[in-house]
Amino acid sequence: EQQGLIDGLGRRIDYVRMSVTDRCDFRCVYCMSEDMTFLPRQRVLSLEELQRLAALFVRRGVKKIRLTGGEPLVRRGIVELCAKIAALPGLRELVMTTNGSQLVKLAQPLADAGVKRLNISLDSLDPDKFRAITRTGDLRQVLDGIEATRQAGFQRTKLNVVVMKGRNEEEVPALVDYALAHDLDVTFIEEMPLGHVGRSRGESFCSSDTVREIISRRYRLFESTENSGGPARYVRVEGFPDSRIGFISPHSHNFCDSCNRVRLTAEGRLLLCLGHENNVDLRSLARRHPTTDTPLHQALDRALQHKPARHEFDVDQVQILRFMNASGG
Ligand code: GTP
Ligand code: 5AD
Ligand code: SF4
Repeated sequence: EQQGLIDGLGRRIDYVRMSVTDRCDFRCVYCMSEDMTFLPRQRVLSLEELQRLAALFVRRGVKKIRLTGGEPLVRRGIVELCAKIAALPGLRELVMTTNGSQLVKLAQPLADAGVKRLNISLDSLDPDKFRAITRTGDLRQVLDGIEATRQAGFQRTKLNVVVMKGRNEEEVPALVDYALAHDLDVTFIEEMPLGHVGRSRGESFCSSDTVREIISRRYRLFESTENSGGPARYVRVEGFPDSRIGFISPHSHNFCDSCNRVRLTAEGRLLLCLGHENNVDLRSLARRHPTTDTPLHQALDRALQHKPARHEFDVDQVQILRFMNASGG
């Protein structure tokens, strides 16, 4: 029962993304609709349950855990949870994806708790456009948060940009300049159709090839074979050895063959693939078996046999009603 996690297609699963809350202080236009309802608290995993499941995964050979949301830093007790997970023997790295709004306060505590790297969403450097995309976000707060991560000693901080034509496509050069000037990595992401967000995603679709072309007008790019264990393909920039530019291209360059991950939703559902509804309710199992993990291990093994080969995302058609904030990114 302590064997590694291998799926039905022979892919080794050693990366788990755990959503610690579906709530968020932002309402990004690609992630949420304007009028979101959130899960009632009793349906969300407790901190103890999150810790128990993290330990279970690590015992099965998981090397990398990424905490996501919603916004993970709006969850009370998150720093203590990080410290517990980071201390699990066998885990190589605990990392987090955040919108950055709480980092002025929390960057140092997170570093002290053992979080290794942060990915921070930053879709625009123009305060008005930033507000339009996040609906509630304050750009200054996030930029100060990014600075706080540097002061706290974080390395290889990565910016995530979901590129949308007509909203932030023209911001690509400025975002690259900003990343290079601050020795940050930056990843440009093609928007995925999760949940009805009240706008056409097809109309604003911008492929990674277009983004790369825009960047190439200003910088010389080199292919890189580096892999962070995530879905991004990376290039390097001549003259800037400390930054990498990544492209996550679910539509134009499918990466599912090398998928190494599963996700846990805030409700405790194990999602085998972002683009499919297959899931296993680990919360119920954990609550039914508070003192033995055997049924959880068995459920994991069974579930992995049914991990889908790949997502079938269409640029504009929403087949998955689950929103990104409830999916663990
Ligand atoms: P690294 O560890 O830095 O490589 O992180 P990452 O890129 O895996 O994670 P992050 O949370 O920063 O996510 C960046 C984007 O990748 C988000 O839009 C995620 O939804 C997307 N993403 C991550 N894993 C998958 C996946 O398995 N399938 C798809 N379609 N998208 C994914
Ligand atoms: N498509 C692609 N990326 C998305 N994210 C949120 N919603 C979407 C979407 N619909 C990204 C955010 C965040 C990461 C966890 O997922 O930018 O950085
Ligand atoms: Fe919040 Fe992240 Fe979704 Fe934006 S993408 S609304 S920051 S959970």
